[in-house]
Amino acid sequence: VQDQRVAETSPQIVNAEQSKTREITILFGSETGNCQALSEDLRTKLGGLGFKVELSAMDDFKTKGLKKVQDLLIITATHGEGDPPDNALSFYEFLNSRKAPKLEDVRFSVLALGDQSYEFFCQTGKDFDKRLEELGAKRLYPRVDCDVDFDDLAAEWTEGVLNELKASQSEATGGSTIVAQESSPLGTPLQQSAYSRTNPFKAEVLENLNLSGRGSNKENRHLELSLEGSNLEFEPGDSLGIYPENHPNLVDEIIEEMQWNPDELVAINKLGDVPLREALLSHLEITILTKPLMEKASHLTHHSALKELLAPGQEEALKAYMEGRDILDLLRDFAPWETSAREFVSILRKIPARLYSIASSYKANPDEVHLTIGTVRFHAHGRDRMGVCSGQCAERVKPGDRLSVYVHRNPNFRLPSDPEAPIIMIGPGTGVAPFRAFLEEREELEAQGKSWLFFGDQHFRTDFLYQVDWQRWLKEGVLTKLDVAFSRDTAEKIYVQHRMLQKSKELFQWIQEGASLYVCGDEKHMAKDVQDALLTIFQQEGGMSFEAAESYLTDLRKQKRYQRDVY
Ligand code: 2AM
Repeated sequence: VQDQRVAETSPQIVNAEQSKTREITILFGSETGNCQALSEDLRTKLGGLGFKVELSAMDDFKTKGLKKVQDLLIITATHGEGDPPDNALSFYEFLNSRKAPKLEDVRFSVLALGDQSYEFFCQTGKDFDKRLEELGAKRLYPRVDCDVDFDDLAAEWTEGVLNELKASQSEATGGSTIVAQESSPLGTPLQQSAYSRTNPFKAEVLENLNLSGRGSNKENRHLELSLEGSNLEFEPGDSLGIYPENHPNLVDEIIEEMQWNPDELVAINKLGDVPLREALLSHLEITILTKPLMEKASHLTHHSALKELLAPGQEEALKAYMEGRDILDLLRDFAPWETSAREFVSILRKIPARLYSIASSYKANPDEVHLTIGTVRFHAHGRDRMGVCSGQCAERVKPGDRLSVYVHRNPNFRLPSDPEAPIIMIGPGTGVAPFRAFLEEREELEAQGKSWLFFGDQHFRTDFLYQVDWQRWLKEGVLTKLDVAFSRDTAEKIYVQHRMLQKSKELFQWIQEGASLYVCGDEKHMAKDVQDALLTIFQQEGGMSFEAAESYLTDLRKQKRYQRDVY
């Protein structure tokens, strides 16, 4: 069993004398907002205890002040293949450069959020933890690495850190408290709804349409859900979390394979005992294999091949095995098992919610939320497979059904507060979803700012998502410019970044006039290529060197004028 808590060095308390007027600095690196929400929560708790607290996104923090920091609490996500979140990039680079100062008087602790299904699990948190130690800082409390279901471990870390701080504070001040400092609120006020990630709302499905035309290689669905009675609010840029259900056929095949009793009660944390079939349908992840899961499973079978796959030196073979396979494959491939249903389900992860960028404006449609969901289908290892949530929405969700949902705020993808400010939106494929919300909002507010959309997909005829909406907004002046790239209508592939390069002069002019850039969609290829195109445009149109173009982009990011929602 892998313990997620990593304690490389035991916690230590620095000389109490030094702590007399200690101030706590919380820095977060947040891609989708979870780390920011945890940081704000921690600030509230510390403030309530009378501590003086400073909180900011890592990249908003003036690194000159780093030497003066006393207690440093880092809460960070990891992105993609072990990368720091966008709003932690500059700080991460600074800290890992020669410019980083010695930090011998600093105490620190790191809370890392991640996903065990990624090879570089919690890598950014691990990097900060290691680097701070190298710079001489003392670990106040051991780092905690959280998987997607982070609540309990994050609460444990928070409590541990608070206890250490309280202990050293009362030593230093002889028990008296110091004055709390009001720091400026971050983001928008919290919603008043009773519903949240841990208490989702059962939203009725109003519409479920296929946006893709006949003959398309894709199936993109447009869902409309009712939020009536939920009090849930959202802003353009926010996402909706959906708790999906696994495919009933997959669940039944697993039960049959193991000859389990579907009605047998199994223990699901917090929920208590649940019938096996319901547990596998609604509460447990059965479609993704992770290394920690494989390790736990290896103790439940005598089949030696599983242990061999986990042996040192087999990392690549293990990775290749896990890719595209699910729990049914695992159960079939490493039979016979020496386990009960109750024991086996205890090693499975809780099924995580899927996040979809909201495609509608709350101000325009307060009782509804619209989503654009690309159906994921693929064939692997002899079976047709589907994305859990997108498959459910494509095949089994009908108007009148209910889905368990919550609003996930994304403070890192926001329209400029000035309705006059120009915006440039780059969103091929389902990445266009939040821009429909942006424009609905701007239409509703009668915002006067210019807007420019770059959209791309395979074919004009079948894949031009929301074509009617864009054309109406163009006509009405809500959308100023639209450039489209259909990659498979011509002999040579045309992508959004090619259109951007063709319009480089005007694009650069917009940016110089203060336009904010938004990129949504595929991270691995599109977002990277779009970023390269931006750097080319800055060099070409701004007469900058490559380095100057990079720092121009970093400045835009710091000014929140280059924001991404990529996946
Ligand atoms: P393709 O599938 O024809 O290669 C939305 O999915 C659109 O994004 C499709 O037209 C797809 O093109 C395109 N796309 C694929 N890779 C891309 C990349 N590196 N940059 C930009 N667009 C890309």
